[in-house]
Amino acid sequence: MNVLETSVMQGFIRMADDGWQQGWHERNGGNLTYRMKPEEVEQIREELQDNQPWQDIGASVPGLSGEYFIVTGSGKYFRNISLFPEDSCAIIEIDKAGERFRICWGLAGGGRPTSELPSHLMNHEVKKALTGGKHRVIYHAHPANTIALTFVLPLEDQAFTRELWEMATECPVVFPDGIGVVPWMVPGGRDIAVETSKLMKQYDVAVWAHHGLFCSGEDFDLTFGLMHTVEKSAQILVKVLSMTGSKRQTIQPDEFRSLAKDFHVTLPEKFLYEK
Ligand code: 13P
Ligand code: ZN
Repeated sequence: MNVLETSVMQGFIRMADDGWQQGWHERNGGNLTYRMKPEEVEQIREELQDNQPWQDIGASVPGLSGEYFIVTGSGKYFRNISLFPEDSCAIIEIDKAGERFRICWGLAGGGRPTSELPSHLMNHEVKKALTGGKHRVIYHAHPANTIALTFVLPLEDQAFTRELWEMATECPVVFPDGIGVVPWMVPGGRDIAVETSKLMKQYDVAVWAHHGLFCSGEDFDLTFGLMHTVEKSAQILVKVLSMTGSKRQTIQPDEFRSLAKDFHVTLPEKFLYEK
């Protein structure tokens, strides 16, 4: 089957284009990866090359041995993904040791997978193990309101989680585990990958200070929805802080506890501190 006609590739392209339309992907900003299901690989087996050179991942991910991923290319523009997916994206295979990858399809005009591949793969490895294989999508974007907040809120999980939960009643239901915060770090390397994957053991969302957001989820809808919800909440907070330095009223810790009960989620008490 033609790769571009598969529902998984169409879902990948649609999500990337939705992100572009939200304004989260200036130039080549952001990247998206998806861990393919075995049946999705089989569907396109005859389209996959197996003669490209193996290249170092820059991280060790033995838990992803033999897996296939759809990935965005480094330096490629999200704006172009829906128009030229075969040039902007690739399918890669991970070797048995989880040390190297090779390109099996795509990047038709040349290039390599996203520079954030170490972060994506280390986080896929963590999430695959923690969710029994359910999480398949890792998404990094540059949403402006969330980034703006990293200049004014303390760079702490507690502060980000509580402030964003307060901005929209359904936020604690969408990300009940909270949000992790990675301090400013050089992008694209192993160090930021290690710091992010530590946080992703607890959370599905991590903020990269002065840079962007990093989300993990089961499928395209849930992962896009998570990014969208966090950024919408950040947008409300930016409006509130722009109108007035302080809130006149907000959702209280006991109200969060009642919400948790009715919506059957567990909200860690560390986020429900008295202010
Ligand atoms: P890539 O173009 O290599 O994916 O990098 C974009 C980015 O957002 C880095 O954090
Ligand atoms: Zn980035």
